[in-house]
Amino acid sequence: MRILGSGFGSAAGERRVVFTGPGPAGVEGTILSWNDDGVSVLVPAGTVVGGVAIVEGERRSNALLFEVASDLVSFVDDLRPIFSRQGCASCHGGTNDLFLDTPASILRGGNHGPAAIPRRGAESLLVRVLRGPADGINRMPFGSPQIPAADILLIEDWVNQGVRNN
Ligand code: HEC
Repeated sequence: MRILGSGFGSAAGERRVVFTGPGPAGVEGTILSWNDDGVSVLVPAGTVVGGVAIVEGERRSNALLFEVASDLVSFVDDLRPIFSRQGCASCHGGTNDLFLDTPASILRGGNHGPAAIPRRGAESLLVRVLRGPADGINRMPFGSPQIPAADILLIEDWVNQGVRNN
């Protein structure tokens, strides 16, 4: 799940994300990414409803209640249209080492190895190159403005959901 807000800072530091119930209580969440405007945390498997708080030492934020949506990001219906709308497919569909046609080709990746690591969206090259230059690779799409943040989040969510072929 992603906790949206502002002023979170650029890194977790000493802060932890803890589930408070209803649902899992006292469980510490695995933090997937931490940015100033949002924190992504893995929800324990099987959770339907829950509460979550940010804890630092003795201090704890108010619990935020959430419900787990059943919708998964779809490769075919969500990601493919982004790749074609943003021009990725024209460079990465036959003329470049990296093919974005299928989840398998993304896992195989290009010159720099796998473009996605299942469940580790923020660390995956496919997501990092959209936020800025990474590992000596230009920011993508090469030669065009940055794509909308919502599209990047969708791609990150798809990786965090396990690089499904759906
Ligand atoms: C104009 C052509 C062009 C467009 C458009 C483009 N790319 Fe690229 N892409 C490249 C080239 C060339 C490289 C090789 C490395 C470099 O240029 O830094 C690359 C490299 C990459 C890599 C790293 C692959 C590796 O292992 O080396 C990823 C991931 C990537 N692009 C994703 C995307 C995504 C996602 C989009 C759309 C948002 C996109 N690219 C749009 C040309 C393009």
